Amino acid sequence: MSNAAKGSAVITIPGHNQNAELPMLAGTIGPEVLDIRKLYNELGVFTFDPGYGGTASCESKITYIDGDEGVLLYRGYPIEQLAEHSTFLEVACLLLNGELPNDAEFAEFERGVTRHTMLHEQLRSFFNGFRRDAHPMAVLCGVVGALSAFYHDSLDINNPEHRRISAFRLIAKVPTIAAWTYKYSIGQPFMYPRNDLSFAENFLYMMNAVPAEPFKVNPILSRAMDRILILHADHEQNASTSTVRLAGSTGANPFACIAAGIASLWGPAHGGANEAVLKMLEEIGHVDHIPEFIDRVKDKNSNVRLMGFGHRVYKNYDPRAKIMQRTCHEVLGELGVKDDPLLDLAIELERIALSDEYFISKKLYPNVDFYSGIILKAMGFPTSMFTVLFAVARTVGWISQWKEMIEDPSQRIGRPRQLYTGAPMRDFVPRNRRD
Ligand code: ACO
Repeated sequence: MSNAAKGSAVITIPGHNQNAELPMLAGTIGPEVLDIRKLYNELGVFTFDPGYGGTASCESKITYIDGDEGVLLYRGYPIEQLAEHSTFLEVACLLLNGELPNDAEFAEFERGVTRHTMLHEQLRSFFNGFRRDAHPMAVLCGVVGALSAFYHDSLDINNPEHRRISAFRLIAKVPTIAAWTYKYSIGQPFMYPRNDLSFAENFLYMMNAVPAEPFKVNPILSRAMDRILILHADHEQNASTSTVRLAGSTGANPFACIAAGIASLWGPAHGGANEAVLKMLEEIGHVDHIPEFIDRVKDKNSNVRLMGFGHRVYKNYDPRAKIMQRTCHEVLGELGVKDDPLLDLAIELERIALSDEYFISKKLYPNVDFYSGIILKAMGFPTSMFTVLFAVARTVGWISQWKEMIEDPSQRIGRPRQLYTGAPMRDFVPRNRRD
């Protein structure tokens, strides 16, 4: 990997009689970056950046976000164009391999994924170990982690062929595991994958079909599903992706790393937000209650947030939210839902929030999760499956980022430092002499 150096910055710290000259780095687009790797050796100080809001943890060629302009690019291609013209599997190929595939390359990629959609039969028994009312994310996290116990033949992370097969296995098997977590929770038989269907169709089939009767996938719903998967496929160094990279930086196998990513995604501040949006809308219940709810959100002591609003990077409309809003209308139209009270509530909540000084001054706009819950609910997904769906899509981003990290020669184990504010060194006092 390389990055063009763009001059340097001289750091002077009061009380230190030395300067440090640190290189400035430039990416292809985006702000310049100050390379602080030599700072501690030269000046004996660390930087302090809880939440890493001002720190680039790696160099990456996969995804670019301009949060002020509301731009999201996968390998340089705007998300709007990919959502309109591409398919999830083609986007997966793009994210993993760097370029849009031609016909032969796509056929090979598709074959690679579909050859791995089935689970080892022994994995079926893992599901029986869970309570039927377990949260599907708990089951997904456990079963994906367990995959590392099944593929000893391909766990050498330094072998490119092993990395390739592991990527195929994860992209192909996570949807099967995800659908089976749902089938297990409702006591229906597991449906085996069908490789004659597209990625999105197969997922909807495994979720909704039963062996007792034929099942036809609605093309409008499978297109919506495909688009939702594209929108969630990658999002640069977010919490779960950084978790995958941090776990992977130790040399851990990719199945264990993706299980760590799933755990990180589960939280309501991240992938759990679409579930939280729906709960919030149900709690608000009626447009008349919105002003009172907004007052609670603005009250610093209430700890109530407008879920589906705000983002660490976007200080403008999340471009994915716009596509989601459009998809939401398409899906509800197809399903014949003329008046969805939750959608009406969401539209009114968004209108009020976007004209409220609190949200304007803090640059809080709808994020991808604001509308996704409404679509998924209309498509028949239970709320607890929303984050699982997110994980199905994000597996592509996680494994692409993991692969990029392993192939980066400058990669080292991730090991942040800290600003220690605990007790200074002191001597042990026996218990009978303590106050
Ligand atoms: N509702 C109300 N106020 C908010 C919200 C919100 N949703 N989000 C941020 N704020 C306020 C904070 O109270 C804070 O105010 P202050 O400066 O007066 O203290 C300010 O905006 C900045 O908030 P931070 O928490 O510092 O911003 P951060 O970048 O750390 O958080 C996050 C980003 C976690 C996404 C936050 O906006 C949030 O909790 N949103 C709701 C949950 C959500 O929708 N998550 C999905 C994110 S997208 C994704 O993962 C796919």
